[in-house]
Amino acid sequence: MNKQVVLLPGDGIGKEVMESAKFVLNTVAIEFGHRFAFHEHAIGGDAIDRYDTPLPDETLKACQQAEAVLLGAVGGKKWDNLPAPKRPEKGLLGIRKQLGLFANLRPIKSFPALAHVSPLKEEVISGSDILIMRELTGGLYFGKPSERRKNGDAAVDTLSYERWEIERIVDKAFQSAQNRKGKVTSVDKANVLESSRLWREVVETKQEQYPEVTVEHMLVDAAAMKLVTNPDHFDVIVTGNLFGDILSDEASVLTGSLGMLPSASLRSDGVGLYEPVHGSAPDIAGKGMANPVGMILSAAMMLRHTFGMEEEAAEIEAAVNRTLNDGYHTADLNHAGGKLVGTKEMTELVVDNLTTKSVSD
Ligand code: NAD
Ligand code: IPM
Ligand code: MN
Repeated sequence: MNKQVVLLPGDGIGKEVMESAKFVLNTVAIEFGHRFAFHEHAIGGDAIDRYDTPLPDETLKACQQAEAVLLGAVGGKKWDNLPAPKRPEKGLLGIRKQLGLFANLRPIKSFPALAHVSPLKEEVISGSDILIMRELTGGLYFGKPSERRKNGDAAVDTLSYERWEIERIVDKAFQSAQNRKGKVTSVDKANVLESSRLWREVVETKQEQYPEVTVEHMLVDAAAMKLVTNPDHFDVIVTGNLFGDILSDEASVLTGSLGMLPSASLRSDGVGLYEPVHGSAPDIAGKGMANPVGMILSAAMMLRHTFGMEEEAAEIEAAVNRTLNDGYHTADLNHAGGKLVGTKEMTELVVDNLTTKSVSD
């Protein structure tokens, strides 16, 4: 049976790296005898231009019916001055909310071939392996519409969390830690925010159900510092929507580039939306130089989390590693000192490393 996958290329480099994901998935399908049915739909600025809305009904319906959604990125200068409900980002936030994708998994693992590329010292980053578990459908991003406003010189956003929203993301974090190094760092701002004090209370109650997992609380400002001074300290980080957004871009420095990071946005039944952590990168869009690795690894996460294809996912990850070990990289990793290639070539190299695995191993 065909696996139904909705593709939302979006804007800027989103469109470019989506081509890479399709190529890799089609190759995996041939290699392993799977069939993926891709359904492409509009979102973000592209959808605003074509349908006058960042999230057309048809796109939302297709996502609701799909087993998995792959997203490139949305946004760009052209649409930056539109009112909030019409901005490209509203399309992405709308899908996350309407599909109930509350758990955003952002793994950050330093790649041995790139350990010398990060501006951080090699001995600081080597061996780091972190999972940021970001709450994705609540918090400051989704304050009550009636309380959200901007009137001339005053503007209001509200931050609220309910116990059940915190419980389900904290459960996911504990469950992930059980399969990793068994440590959860809950990141908050409990010295200032009421919502963070509730967050801590929930973590402490939940902790009783997972006695084999070690728990610590850390304030977000200190966590931001520790991420770049002692990343090895962390295993699973669980945190709210905004803190998770900021900390994950910061953590990308461990890998050498934001273009390396994949993510999965999940609910409890396996349905998921998979997207790189980076945005539409207007500064390099259209130049064929975007790093496709974050997108390709997001496709691997889709195979693992939605379709249970662990072997296929691991195969893609190994192919990316082989390509990097051979010294190839895109321009964002320019100080790697290896062989500079564009998006298409990087993708072809990864694909070659998939199909020639028995030869090169
Ligand atoms: P960005 O992530 O698009 O770019 C930040 C910097 O990283 C840029 O210098 C860019 O060139 C570089 N970069 C990012 N991804 C790269 C890749 N794959 N290869 C090489 N270099 C890469 O963030 P921004 O510039 O702050 O935002 C641009 C637009 O993207 C905004 O409209 C923003 O809202 C949107 N955005 C969308 C998503 C998403 O759709 N998931 C995520 C983040 C930002
Ligand atoms: C991300 C992005 C989005 C977010 C934007 C585009 C709405 O930055 O996925 O990290 O803030 O969640
Ligand atoms: Mn972000």
